[in-house]
Amino acid sequence: MNILLIGSGGREHALAWKLAMSPLCDTLFAAPGNPGIAEHATLVGLDVRDHAATVAFCATNAVGLVVIGPEAPLVDGLGDSLRAAGLAVFGPNAAAAQLEGSKAFTKAVCDAAHIPTARYVHVKTLDEGLASLGGFLLPVVVKADGLAAGKGVTVAATLGEAEAALGDLFAEAGGEAVIEEFLDGEEASLFVLTDGTAILPFGSAQDHKRVGEGDSGPNTGGMGAYSPARVLTPELEARALDEIVRPTVAAMAAAGTPFSGVLYAGLMLTADGPKLIEYNARFGDPECQVLMARLESDLVPILLAVAQGTLADHGVAQWRDAVALTVVLAANGYPGTPEAGGAIHGIADAEATGARVFQAGTRQADGGIVASGGRVLAVTALGDTIGAARDAAYRGVDAVDFPTGFCRRDIGWREIARADNKG
Ligand code: AMP
Ligand code: GLY
Repeated sequence: MNILLIGSGGREHALAWKLAMSPLCDTLFAAPGNPGIAEHATLVGLDVRDHAATVAFCATNAVGLVVIGPEAPLVDGLGDSLRAAGLAVFGPNAAAAQLEGSKAFTKAVCDAAHIPTARYVHVKTLDEGLASLGGFLLPVVVKADGLAAGKGVTVAATLGEAEAALGDLFAEAGGEAVIEEFLDGEEASLFVLTDGTAILPFGSAQDHKRVGEGDSGPNTGGMGAYSPARVLTPELEARALDEIVRPTVAAMAAAGTPFSGVLYAGLMLTADGPKLIEYNARFGDPECQVLMARLESDLVPILLAVAQGTLADHGVAQWRDAVALTVVLAANGYPGTPEAGGAIHGIADAEATGARVFQAGTRQADGGIVASGGRVLAVTALGDTIGAARDAAYRGVDAVDFPTGFCRRDIGWREIARADNKG
């Protein structure tokens, strides 16, 4: 079967690597892809905002499965257009992708289905927002109501900060915001595949969203991650599935907008149990890199079962009994304005250490590969323990020569401290 993968980041490089190794995959196409993905796929210069052109490409090239990596084409309804043309698609339709695209939508689903989440108000004007702040204790959380690449959230420690965050949000025309109660606890991510009815739990992870060591500084798309998230014990995972994921899948189906794809639940593990912070309608980046490193099963039949609505007939996925950890190398300046064009050498040396280097923001230039984005590489390794996985990943990182980039040296610190305490 021919497969079309949409996207160009580290998540898509990890997916391309797994898809291409499947005996079921004939030609893997990637649009637009990146130089790392090009090692596994034929890159195509397709503008996926042009749905008709994408459908035509699939027809011409006998594409049997389209895998949509990032959120933007999902929210833009690419899944709808491809399904309307009879294609098998991994990734939800636009109406279901609202679970990621609109915080207010997700909050309304949570209300209706009694899903545990932070208490909130949805506000449409600055005045309404300012007036609502009094109803919350500090810290209080202020969020933009749209796709914001992880940057639209302010955890405000003071009333002044909350007011300023609202001011910034409403300075842009058409802004809407969600103000919500601060949830105390540890965050963990749970990935669940669903075809709209059946669910298949698909691993857990924890990431490091802040740019600086010790989880300090501004939020990013993620500076590193590891899987599994042991803090999400089997008991807590079962609770999250029963109290959060299953009711969501059922509510979406009942509303006539079934969610088909991967539901990525960002959870806060509070003293009262798991609560939903947010949903994403796609795999995490860099969480996908650690999930794919651990996945033993062939990815193609699993994604096909989701796309074709036959997930109930599919067995569980097999995972390596190992910990995977990934360290993101970002370009200097990220998450502000990243320095573009910096030379990258040593990827082969890093892979010779046993690590796998997934490319995210890279571009092929005359002299070799150069940086072309904020997050540039995700150096990923497996180990029997979190400490072994961390050491293996940093051996890979240290073999990379990327003078205009940086990384955090403490990825996995929370889990490592926990493992150390257990002796
Ligand atoms: P979101 O885009 O909703 O995932 O928010 C980004 C990050 O902000 C989350 O990963 C949390 O670290 C933090 N955050 C969001 N909402 C809350 C909340 N209600 N309580 C505490 N932290 C939050
Ligand atoms: N790493 C967080 C995300 O993909 O949303």
